[in-house]
Amino acid sequence: MSSLYGVIGNPIKHSKSPLMHNQWFEAEGIDASYHAFTIEPKNLEDAIKGMKALGIKGWNVTIPHKESIIPFLDEIDESAAVIGAVNTVVADGPRLIGKNTDGQGFVESLLTKRTSGEIKKSSILILGAGGAAKGIYHALLKLQPKRLYIANRTVSRAEALIKDVSTHDSAQALTMTAAEENPEQFDIIINTTSVGMSPAIGQSPIKLGLMKKDTLAVDIIYNPLETEFLKRAKAEGADTLNGVGMFVHQGALAFSYWTGSQPDTKKAIKMITENLG
Ligand code: ATR
Repeated sequence: MSSLYGVIGNPIKHSKSPLMHNQWFEAEGIDASYHAFTIEPKNLEDAIKGMKALGIKGWNVTIPHKESIIPFLDEIDESAAVIGAVNTVVADGPRLIGKNTDGQGFVESLLTKRTSGEIKKSSILILGAGGAAKGIYHALLKLQPKRLYIANRTVSRAEALIKDVSTHDSAQALTMTAAEENPEQFDIIINTTSVGMSPAIGQSPIKLGLMKKDTLAVDIIYNPLETEFLKRAKAEGADTLNGVGMFVHQGALAFSYWTGSQPDTKKAIKMITENLG
């Protein structure tokens, strides 16, 4: 019997996850299919019961259910516990296990541009202090970069995030203005804010200038493929990485938890980029 997988969220109809996972099932010769399910918050509990009854083997979770799904799961892994959000559920027989592959997916994408040795020698600036920043910060800490900074419009949120995930001296909280003053001190700058996507297309979370030629500017946004932040960084001669890689790698990690297979991420990045372009 063919196995079923999917993603739950709302809105979900523009998700690229079905395209990606179904292509991987086909390429890996796995008899399975992946579907997008629009689930309203009030129907979440019933939806989970339904998914269990149907024998769905695993699913991704997106806005607005990443946090509210936790009470309905039997177990959550360390990343999901630290971040307080689940993006992947593995059905292990009757047990539902929640995981979060976003932070590690980000790191896998970053590792396509910089080696772990280079990251160890890097000063990294994270822009934003929301849920996405939390996962990325937690995963990046494991690579032990030389210095980590988190800049946020509301600096108290950056301070709270650092305290929540790590010790206070693992990173330094900055105001956006402080981050803008000396951008040349950062080797890698990561935008995790929503500035740059609709309705803030055409805006950048920080004013740029004086970026070093070998700075890597990373955006986790993939629609648009090239945000204003990346455009400006490129104009200054910096290297850039958009959010398609993180999207694909978080999906690949989920896929490997479900099936034990490592899918082709390079091919998927190309396919998703072409699909969005
Ligand atoms: P996510 O889970 O996607 O990270 P979030 O938790 O709502 O979403 O966080 C959004 C991030 O974008 C926050 O860091 C937010 O800054 P504040 O904490 O100050 O709200 C940031 N953000 C959103 N709009 C912004 C704007 N116009 N300028 C600067 N930062 C912005």
